[in-house]
This record gives sequence, structure tokens and C-alpha cells, in this order.
Amino acid sequence: LSLLSGKNFLTLLDFSPLEIDQLLQHSLMLKQETKDGKQSDLLKGKSLGMIFENASTRTRVSFEVGMTQLGGHALFLSPRDMQIGRGEPVKDTANVLSRYVDAIMIRTNSHELVEEFAEHASVPVINALTDGYHPCQAMADALTILEHKEKLKGLKLTYIGDGNNVAHSLLAVGAKVGMDVSIASPKGYEVDQAIFAKAQKAAEETGATLSQTHDPKEAVRDADVIYTDVWASMGYEAEQDERMNKFLAYQVNESLAKLAKDDYIFLHCLPAHRGEEVSEGVIDGPHSAIYDQAENRLHAQKSILVALMTHS
Ligand code: CP
Ligand code: NVA
Repeated sequence: LSLLSGKNFLTLLDFSPLEIDQLLQHSLMLKQETKDGKQSDLLKGKSLGMIFENASTRTRVSFEVGMTQLGGHALFLSPRDMQIGRGEPVKDTANVLSRYVDAIMIRTNSHELVEEFAEHASVPVINALTDGYHPCQAMADALTILEHKEKLKGLKLTYIGDGNNVAHSLLAVGAKVGMDVSIASPKGYEVDQAIFAKAQKAAEETGATLSQTHDPKEAVRDADVIYTDVWASMGYEAEQDERMNKFLAYQVNESLAKLAKDDYIFLHCLPAHRGEEVSEGVIDGPHSAIYDQAENRLHAQKSILVALMTHS
């Protein structure tokens, strides 16, 4: 894990299958220690700057609590209150913050902006959601599946809905852990084909099968995990009505879920819209693991923070 020291965490495609596996195993260990009430000082005296251009419940609280549990400190930074919001260059913000804090976490729409920030920062930069990827979410998702199914390799995860940031990171994590990922999206809302190709290339190393279709029934057949996300992500709220019509046939409901394995689990990164991308019966039913999944943001991110922020 010390090999990750000082690295950025922008997309899982930048990491090897071994590194992803080690992060997951370390998350399980940190989770157990927390459950046992063990105090940690792994990040004693260290600070994490958290820049949130968009709303967040899980990411903000889990990163902040994670830093506290590791003996460090987190600062919530809103661009509305920072000079970057008044036009201070990314380059200056990244350089200056790097002189104060030990790592920087960013949530913003533009993935390029996070890359630009990382280029100028001299401390690790963590992607906490861009229009491209949600890598911290995918690590928590993998951890949740591992806990429920006791393995990842050879499982089938089906993602139904918008070919968005979350879908991209599921492709990446599947490719890295050897889990098949099958995506069903409406026409015009497919995943980014360049990202799909990169994930496909990464999958050659683990043997994971990645596929895409417009037919949700075909995608969900024999799935171990069914996953969905909102139809209109942050930044796309204006398209909500138009998307509602196009996505109607992509709701994860009891009749679709019948095609999955009998012991499938249901995941959703949250926040969710019951009655839109998922029926109440599924998200609040016995197959749903959404709260375990939300909790695992904390444990997965603690392992990422320790790996990037400590030496040796
Ligand atoms: N899943 C997720 O990232 O949630 P928040 O938007 O609440 O952080
Ligand atoms: N796809 C969603 C995820 C929110 C956590 C969004 O980008 O808004």
C-alpha cells in the first residue's frame, strides 16, 4: 500500500488489480478495528481539504468522520466562499492549498478541472465525483458486494439506467476485480465509449466481461448484483422531464428483478428517487443493501486516505 503514497485518486483505471484488492482488504481491517472500538492515529496531525462545488451528504460526512477516526482533521471548503469562486486560478489554489493540507478531495462537474488541479497540487488529489467518475463510491460498492457475496471474481453486476459517472466507475472496478459488468441504458444515454474501451482493455488482465445493451431484461439475467442511479445527475436537472419519458422502461422493479439470481442484492449510490429509477418494493425490500453500501463509503475511504497520505 505504501506504493500509493503521494498518488492521486482520480479513477480506478489508474490502479492495478493488486492495489485495488489491497485497498479492499485494508478497508475490511479498518472497519473491524472501528467496530471493535479501537482508536487510530494513522493520520495524526494531517489535514484533508474538501472542496465541494456540488451538494453531498454521504461523501462529505464520511470523509470528515473518516479523517477524525484516523486522528486527523478535515476542512469543508465551499467554492462559494473561496477565492476560486471569484476567479482565482486553479493553479494558484492548488499550489497554495498544497502548502497547508496533506491531501485535497474535490467534487465538481468537470473531470478535466480535477485533472488540472492535480497537475498543480503537490499533495494527493482525490476525486469525490466528477462527470467522469465516482471512484470512492465504486470502492465502497465493491466492499459491500464482497461482504455480502464473499467474493467478487466471477460475479455479475448489472447496472440499469444512465451511462453516467457511477456506471463508468462500476465498469472500472469490475475490470479490476474480475467481476462481469453488464450495462443497460436507453439510446442516447450510453456510457462514454472511450471509457468503456479503457475499462475493456483493463478487463483483459482479470478476465472480466463488460457488456452494454439497450435491453434491461437481457442485461439483468442471472445478475448477482443489480445497481441503478438517478436518471438526471447533478448538472442535468433541466433534462429531468425529457429523461423521465425515455427512461421509463429502465425502472428497476420487482418484475425486472425476477430475472436476476434469487439471492441478488440491490445497490444504489444514493440519493435515490423511489418510483423513478427504482420501485419502493425493491429499494426497501429484503434484497436491498443500500445502507450497508452507504456505511462502506466511510471504511473504503479511510483505506484510501491512509494509502495516499502515509509513507512506509
Ligand atoms: N453517493 C454519494 O456520493 O452521495 P452524496 O452525494 O450524498 O455524497
Ligand atoms: N450520478 C449522480 C451520483 C450522485 C452521488 C450524480 O452525478 O449526481
